[in-house]
Amino acid sequence: MSVPQAVPTRVHRMSFAQFAMRAPGLLGDRAEAIRRIALDYGDLVEMPIPGKHIHIVTSPELARHVLQHNNKNYRRSFDFRIMQTFLGDGLITTHDEFWQHARRAAMPAFRQRFVESLTDAIAFETSEYFDEALGNDQSTRLTHAAMSVLSLRLFASTMLSVNVRNEEGRFLKAMQVAVRHLDRRLAAVVDTDAFMPTLSKRRFHKATAEIDEILATWMRTRLSHPGEKDDLMALLLRASADIEESKRSSWLRDQVLTSLAAGHETVAVALAWCLLMLATHQAVQDRVRAETLGKVGARGVLRESVPTLAYTDAVVCETLRLYPSVWSIGREALGEDRFGDAVIPAGATVMVCPYAIHRRPDLWADADQFIPDRFLAGPPARPFQYLPFSGGPRHCIGDHLSMLELKIVIATLVSRYRIERVDNRRVGKEPLVSLRPHPDFELRFTPIPRPT
Ligand code: HEM
Repeated sequence: MSVPQAVPTRVHRMSFAQFAMRAPGLLGDRAEAIRRIALDYGDLVEMPIPGKHIHIVTSPELARHVLQHNNKNYRRSFDFRIMQTFLGDGLITTHDEFWQHARRAAMPAFRQRFVESLTDAIAFETSEYFDEALGNDQSTRLTHAAMSVLSLRLFASTMLSVNVRNEEGRFLKAMQVAVRHLDRRLAAVVDTDAFMPTLSKRRFHKATAEIDEILATWMRTRLSHPGEKDDLMALLLRASADIEESKRSSWLRDQVLTSLAAGHETVAVALAWCLLMLATHQAVQDRVRAETLGKVGARGVLRESVPTLAYTDAVVCETLRLYPSVWSIGREALGEDRFGDAVIPAGATVMVCPYAIHRRPDLWADADQFIPDRFLAGPPARPFQYLPFSGGPRHCIGDHLSMLELKIVIATLVSRYRIERVDNRRVGKEPLVSLRPHPDFELRFTPIPRPT
């Protein structure tokens, strides 16, 4: 295929000495370490990790080439096999016709039009959650764990139409164990869990069994009224008619768990970063509050007001620029690929790094600063310059839903409470499967007197 003009023609191969110097950084904040490698060595860098060809991509044009233009040459990277031990054969871990069938089946639940119809449900769920968690106390504190509960409730009420309150604590604990185990395997230089009976693996199996048991109860509850709602579950049920009977229930389990896993932690960490940004930028918070004035009723954000929340939207976009929940997107090259003179060998792992692309100083003025206004002027100039939801055929199916949820939660909170940090400890990043804030932090929510 022809190579787009702007694609650079060189792979920088890091020497072992260069790699060794960067190793300590790569063991900590990997996202930042990779960004610095890209700044020093260029848009396409090969890292000499024993047994693996890892190519880091940090230019919008190369990202577009891999994810969109030449996407047929790339599959999700070797990591997907590790994810498969948990998610089975859902959207994230499958390819070709099997993936296409599931993606087509789920798509109507994620289209913008349909997602907009969920506004009242999201607004109500959010409002109820914060009334319960914060109430009218003089000042209440919340941490990342609270965002995780809210994010699960939002998924369950919009996509499955079930109430998960009774089991949410147990479910989230088990999810945490499972995700920690997967994180450990994905980050390991030697994946001992693949061939040794480890304690982490035992805990993982126990957690997965617990998750399956709870999920099965939720799905049974939902299936006792099959035709009632036109949600994700209803669509998947209809599509499952094409699946062999003996495989039907595991297909349904894999699809539901995949959407939940993909949409739960990503939204929870994005919310945590948004709130941290608002707490540390009081002038931005005041502008969001001014924008939401009169747009949030007792049952939450009013549906007709959502399109008018332009500044709140910009705050969410800017947070996802600085802290993209999915900070790196992995692919494996099926055949050899060329960018000009540069060759990516068949079997190589390609890591497209939104975190590094989002902070390129040549693409973003004051790249490390939180400046929501930059998104008020319209979308960024270059395709794939901004890709928190990836791009191409495997882009995030939940992009509209996430943006709506994040805007509603932010507008609800800011209109009712002043959000402040409890202490000034530095919050860094922990780039696991998702980009988490670390250490966890507390925020103080002080109710704002409602206008009379
Ligand atoms: C802030 C929130 C979110 C972010 C930043 C995010 C980001 C992403 C990214 C970067 C991908 C990877 C695509 C690739 O490999 O090219 C992805 C895939 C996916 N996301 Fe999201 N996501 C979010 C929320 C959600 C939600 C709420 C759902 C569903 C309820 C969801 C469901 C999925 C699924 C099913 C995939 C796999 C799609 C496929 O391969 O066909 N995501 N997401």
